Amino acid sequence: MDLNGKHIVLGLTGGVACYKAAYLCRLLVKEGAKVQVVMTEAAAQFITPVTMQALSNRTVYVSQWDAREPNNMAHINLSREADAILVAPASADFMAKLLHGRADDLLSLMCLARPLERVPLLLAPAMNREMWAHPATQRNMAQLRADGAHVLGVGEGDQACGETGDGRMLEPEELLEDLIAHFQPQVLSGRRVLISAGPTYEAIDPVRGITNLSSGKMGFAVARAARDAGADVTLVAGPIHLDGPRGVRRINVRSALEMDAACRAHADQADVFIATAAVADWRPASAQTQKIKKQGDGQVPSLAFVENPDILAAIAASERARSGALYCVGFAAESQDLEAQATAKRLRKGVPLLVGNIGPATFGQDDNALLLIDAQGTLEMPRNSKQALARMLVAEIAKRLPVSGAA
Ligand code: C5P
Repeated sequence: MDLNGKHIVLGLTGGVACYKAAYLCRLLVKEGAKVQVVMTEAAAQFITPVTMQALSNRTVYVSQWDAREPNNMAHINLSREADAILVAPASADFMAKLLHGRADDLLSLMCLARPLERVPLLLAPAMNREMWAHPATQRNMAQLRADGAHVLGVGEGDQACGETGDGRMLEPEELLEDLIAHFQPQVLSGRRVLISAGPTYEAIDPVRGITNLSSGKMGFAVARAARDAGADVTLVAGPIHLDGPRGVRRINVRSALEMDAACRAHADQADVFIATAAVADWRPASAQTQKIKKQGDGQVPSLAFVENPDILAAIAASERARSGALYCVGFAAESQDLEAQATAKRLRKGVPLLVGNIGPATFGQDDNALLLIDAQGTLEMPRNSKQALARMLVAEIAKRLPVSGAA
């Protein structure tokens, strides 16, 4: 649970997107957070405090004159306890108010009263597309950012008013992801990280090909962890059905040759290359341009294969990698003798760090177990979610990077 022990003030201001805040509240609680809901009177026109109380399992605050706090200072008490204040939805009016430091309701009062350096303020804007695009809103957001608030993005699409465009509040899952990211140590700040992920697909003819069972989940988890750690991330993804991760430059490829070209093109600008992809070892020597037809006489076609380039080994042998400017990390999916196989693979690939895992126990799963191997020895990471392992792996990689270039 990524928010275990965190105390989050969830602020709601007036907007139809309040309906999404109810689900967001549930997600925050499920992730281990203690959630204190504070609503403006306008928010209470869209969703009731009763609903939010039931979901957060705590009394909801709406009024600054609420006498339940013994010292009658809810704005001080609640903002001092918080690890973060997340206002979702944040209306255009509420942001305009914050900008001026006005504090005539409990939520804006709390935002103003919060200890600036200790309690981050995250704002999830939600409004009609014209309101969003208005110079006043854009100007206000720029100033709020300059004042230390974290203004999150918005979604694009159908709006409650019937129009279509930018200004929708991000989805609850996306807001949860942004909040969790906010608590991660920025160990890769200023670093550029290149990641390969997923399987490759090697065409036999226009309708058939060979591939493998890699789901890309581990690579995506690593990409998200690197992004959350402050890195600029490029993800070269084989054919997989996963969205995002948001905020990551994603390059979709299909074959090993395409993955090779994309990785080489970006390796020159990277500080770290993490090869999580399950690249096909071989491809058909020549892909047929027409579908191979069954002859009906019992004859089967014979397929000849050629070896694919070893993307990781080639990049690890490059001048930049050998000089230490590019730190390369390989993955090994084995079915047995993990330590011996992975140790040998690290040397064969010429990489400083190799991450071993048991193939059948990881492909398609949401959890995994890792064995990190470098010149100093091994480090076991017991079974955990791929996301948790990815965060630990990123921390280990960060420790091994040369200090120069760090932010
Ligand atoms: O040799 P093997 O496929 O087990 O090596 C696994 C590691 O090498 C992974 O990091 C994988 O992404 C990388 N690799 C590669 N290009 C290949 C084969 C593997 O980059 N053709």
